Amino acid sequence: MTAKRWKAREPFLQIRGLKVKFPERGRELVAVDGVDLSIARGEIAGVAGESGSGKSVMSQSILRLGAYDSTQSCEGEILFAGQDLLRLPEAEMRRLRGSRIAVIFQDPMTSLSPVHTVARQMTEVLTLHRGCLKIEARRRCAELLARTGIAAPEACLRKYPFELSGGMQQRVMIAMALCCEPELLIADEPTTALDATVQQQILELLAGLNRELGMSMLFISHNLGAIAQLCHSVHVMYLGQILEEAPAAELFSRPLNPYTRGLLQCAPHLDSRRGGPLPTIAGTVPSPYRAPAGCRFCTRCPEADERCRSAEPPMLEPAPGHRVKCWKYAVSERNCL
Ligand SMILES: Nc1ncnc2c1ncn2[C@@H]1O[C@H](COP(=O)(O)OP(=O)(O)O)[C@@H](O)[C@H]1O
Ligand SMILES: [Mg+2]
Repeated sequence: MTAKRWKAREPFLQIRGLKVKFPERGRELVAVDGVDLSIARGEIAGVAGESGSGKSVMSQSILRLGAYDSTQSCEGEILFAGQDLLRLPEAEMRRLRGSRIAVIFQDPMTSLSPVHTVARQMTEVLTLHRGCLKIEARRRCAELLARTGIAAPEACLRKYPFELSGGMQQRVMIAMALCCEPELLIADEPTTALDATVQQQILELLAGLNRELGMSMLFISHNLGAIAQLCHSVHVMYLGQILEEAPAAELFSRPLNPYTRGLLQCAPHLDSRRGGPLPTIAGTVPSPYRAPAGCRFCTRCPEADERCRSAEPPMLEPAPGHRVKCWKYAVSERNCL
């Protein structure tokens, strides 16, 4: 079901050297620490990593959402359609949100209003952003709900979000995101709260939308099975950094970073041959206030040596398009990026 037709290579969203810091009681928490990530038109880019690795903060900074306020500082560039989103005036940013770039979250109820019907919330997007007439907007909303697999769209439009199941709420969120035909959909753990069957249906829906509309996606999940199924490329994050990235097939067949290997060993459905209890990566993610000086993963890496503990590895490219931040692959200076 993966959208195989993706071929374009030129990035249309380019994150360069992104650093996001939160100053707190005299200390500084670096949630995103020098991330480079590009998404091409029509590409589904997956971001994997344990909880707390900076996936949400990184994706929210694209639209300057969430905790983005005067206390949070962002460095670097986020280039979209020739503009740096980190430096765009707020009025222009508001026009972009929900129109050219849309976002869906793990819990739809954080974005849906409990006091208005689905119809009221959905049609508003079209009447405000697109200047549609109400009657036309309602027809379009019903079409979009049907497109996301809702069997009785008219009945759904009349309901309040709390009257819908979690899977239905997520479909409504996706339909709302589609209202303005965004070029990029940011989906932050969109299936995490759903049971396995509904999760599968939502993944198929996203893959279908990518195939049919060519919509690019940034798909964030700690579920490697979902990422393997849906994404063209995978970026593995740990403590605010990308430790490995590659086309999905390459990353899953030849994981290079010991962290990626650890994550894969903890994903049962990706290695069904193995029996017995599930392994976990030893140790816990260090506090971002006390990130290790060398490689971020060195305190838990079974292969770490003195160099890993003292110096941060550069991003290396041992195979074309397969990049890894790990000293093990620094065979020569030539493949340092
Ligand atoms: N508003 C905030 N203020 C301070 N720290 C934050 C804030 N939001 C997130 N963080 C911290 O940033 C780090 C990354 O968080 P997050 O992006 O939510 O991780 P993930 O989505 O990968 O689970 C965590 O250590 C988290 O505690
Ligand atoms: Mg998150």
